[in-house]
Parts: sequence; structure tokens; C-alpha cells
Amino acid sequence: MRTQVAIIGAGPAGLLLSQLLELDGIDSVLIERQSAAHVAGRIRAGILEASSVGVLSEAGVADRMATEGMEHPGIYLQWPEQRIHLDFAELAGRSVWVYGQTEVTRDLMAAREKAGRAAFYEASEVTPAGIEDERPHVSFVDADGNVQHVDADAVVGCDGYHGPTRQAFPSESRSTWERNYPFAWLGVLADVAPSTDDLIYAWHPDGFALHSMRSREVSRLYLQVSPEEDIAAWDDDRIWQALATRLGEGRDWTLHTGPIREKSVLPMRSFVSSPMQYGRFFLAGDAAHIVPPTGAKGLNLAVADVALLRTALVAWLAQGRQELANAYSDTALRRVWRATHFSWWMTTTLHRHGDEFDAQLQLSQLRRLAASTPAATELAQNYAGLPIGY
Ligand code: FAD
Ligand code: PHB
Repeated sequence: MRTQVAIIGAGPAGLLLSQLLELDGIDSVLIERQSAAHVAGRIRAGILEASSVGVLSEAGVADRMATEGMEHPGIYLQWPEQRIHLDFAELAGRSVWVYGQTEVTRDLMAAREKAGRAAFYEASEVTPAGIEDERPHVSFVDADGNVQHVDADAVVGCDGYHGPTRQAFPSESRSTWERNYPFAWLGVLADVAPSTDDLIYAWHPDGFALHSMRSREVSRLYLQVSPEEDIAAWDDDRIWQALATRLGEGRDWTLHTGPIREKSVLPMRSFVSSPMQYGRFFLAGDAAHIVPPTGAKGLNLAVADVALLRTALVAWLAQGRQELANAYSDTALRRVWRATHFSWWMTTTLHRHGDEFDAQLQLSQLRRLAASTPAATELAQNYAGLPIGY
């Protein structure tokens, strides 16, 4: 089989890239290890920056988002003495949207199906090869057990942290940076109307808590726990009680409870791999970088990578201009490091770790956000998102 761009991984990065390339008349083939149902069912990120909304609109997959997504002008930040509202619209001139990754993925899958383009789900032994060649290729075994071979002008790894594409880069060409945090999130999805209009990020002596949402009927909530936490030790009552305490129930505010539909423990890690391009291989999204979710950046970084890569691949494959493809890695990594810093800062400011000295520094930093417009503006600009070409 022959295509212009072979894309490994059909998460949001891979699906969106194939959709955008299609708009520019560039042919692609998607190769995904999991089943379509598994990909569509994963519960992950919930917040879209304005620029991500813009890219999804350009891709022609924003109709449902426009009616079911919820625009949020800011967030609440809270610690035991105070809850403050940061108005991003006022501080940064932008708002964010609550529209789950699950929904983004479904919209992209529907668009791909409608266009009738090739996507191989349940592929195994996926092997990208020929990174230094004019004609690289990807081989794999399809869902029916047939060996497939895709020749391409470019191979894009949108295959997440564990995917094979990054591993195919020569080891001497790669640098990686990593930070593992000494805590995790217990995340729950509950069938109950959100108890807040905007998200609440809470510092608490017992540990961090976050109140997010997926719709007017569904809440998404998180608690800081140990990475070794036994989820069986958390029954629904214990979860709701911990959330109520940490989110500050009682002070003119009540946390509404309801049936918990899903719960899981998520480890927290920062990871960056450079370069994001070598020869005719490119990386986008979690394949090249992971952020802890406290800054709500993971999905948005994947969208920004893909927006840059689309322009670079079109210039190269349709117009024969290679400069943007050569600049892709440096351009993308500038934004990646900004988001990596912001996510690290949100994580280390809001989670309990270290000793009482650390706690006092965190509280001082939070009070500063309440007292200083420049400090609040810095958070707002980063959270609401920088321009794609930052
Ligand atoms: P993925 O969505 O990981 O897609 C990669 C795809 O590649 C997958 O479909 C995978 O099956 C496929 N793949 C892997 N190996 C192969 C192979 N060998 N062959 C073919 N295909 C392969 N971000 C936030 O901002 N907020 C959150 O609350 C949040 N929660 C998260 C919870 C979890 C459990 C995880 C894992 C991530 C979370 N993230 C969150 C991060 C966010 O979901 C990711 O940044 C986003 O999914 C990145 O998209 P992607 O397409 O790059 O990667
Ligand atoms: C979510 O809704 O899942 C979510 C929101 C904000 C975050 C992380 C996760 O920072």
C-alpha cells in the first residue's frame, strides 16, 4: 500500500492530523493498536484552550462542541482561608472550553468514517522502518491476521508514550528529560450536576482536590493520593467525604454527590523527548512529551503539535518547501517546554509534598495570586493557552 503520510496511533493527535491533511488533499493511512470502541471509550482530558477550539473548528469537527461544549471564563483557586476566581477573559483575553477528550475523539472518528478513509484498528506488530530513507514504511499485522506494508513519504508517530516511533529514532540523536512526582490522582466520573460554575483547584492540608465536569449532568473530580494507592480502599462514601473536606464544603457551598460511574488512579509524570523530527519521521503529542494533568495541557499540546505539523507537511509534500518541516521540532518544543514548566508549577504549587516549610511557600504563592494582577495574569495566560506558533 502506498500513501503520503503513514500515521501510527489514532488518539486525538493521529485522528486530527489525518483530518487536517485530508482538507489539504494529502493522503494518509492511520494504524492503531486498539479497537475503535476502546479508543472511543477512553476517559481522559476535559479542557480545551481557545486555540485548540480554533483548530478543531478549522478541521470541521466543531458542530457538536458548539452546542454541547461549555465555555468557561476562568477557574477558582482555593486554600483553607480563601477561594478566589481568576477571570481569564479579563486577565488574558481568552476563555477555555469544557469538552471531553472522549467527545473530541468521537467527533474525529465520525468525520473519518464519513470520508471513508483507510484506518486500521487492532493492528499488531506495528513497526516503522527506514527513518533515513527517501521512502520509509510501516509494517503491521491487521485485525484479520494479514501482514500489511505501507510505503510513505513521511511517518508520523502519534502513538503515545509507549509507542514504537520514538524508539525508532537513533538513540544517539535523542535527549530525554523526566520527572516522576511522588503522588497520583484518584479520578472519578459521577452522574451528578457539577456543584460549581467554573473548575475548582484546591490546596488542602490533606492533599490537592479538583472539581471539574463533563456536562451539565456529569462531574469529574480528582483527589491527590499516593502513587501506590489501593483503589479498593476508596469506597464511594470515602471519596465523597474527602472531596467535600478538601473542596471546602460548609463555607456557603455544598458538594452535590451522586453515583460514581468510573474511578481510576493516574500517575503523574513530566517527560520530554527531543528532537521531534528525524529524517522523514515526526512525533506529535504524548509520543514526544507527557505533562502532569494539573495544568490541563496534555491534549492541548497534542493539538498544537498537529496544527504545526500539518502546515509543515503540506508545504513539504504539496509545494516542495522543506523549511517548516526542518523547523517543526524546534518550534513545537518551545511551546512544549513552556507548558512543561507551567504544568510543573501548577503541580508543585497545589499538591502536598515536602514539609511544613514547603507548605508555607505554597500558601504564600497562592496568596500572591490573589493580591497581584501580574501574578494572576501569568497564570491566566498560560492556562488559557499561548498562540499555536509560540
Ligand atoms: P494518545 O491519546 O495516548 O493516543 C496514542 C494512540 O496510539 C493510542 O490510541 C494508542 O492505542 C496508540 N498506540 C500506542 N502504541 C501503538 C502501536 N504500537 N501501534 C499503533 N498504535 C499505537 N490530559 C489532560 O490535559 N487532562 C487530563 O485529565 C488527562 N487525563 C489523562 C488520563 C490518562 C489515563 C492518560 C493516559 C492521559 C491523560 N491526559 C490528560 C493526557 C491526554 O489525554 C493526552 O495528552 C492525550 O491523549 C494525547 O493525545 P495523543 O493522541 O498524543 O496520545
Ligand atoms: C478534567 O476535566 O479531566 C480535567 C480538568 C482540568 C485539569 C485536569 C483534568 O487540570
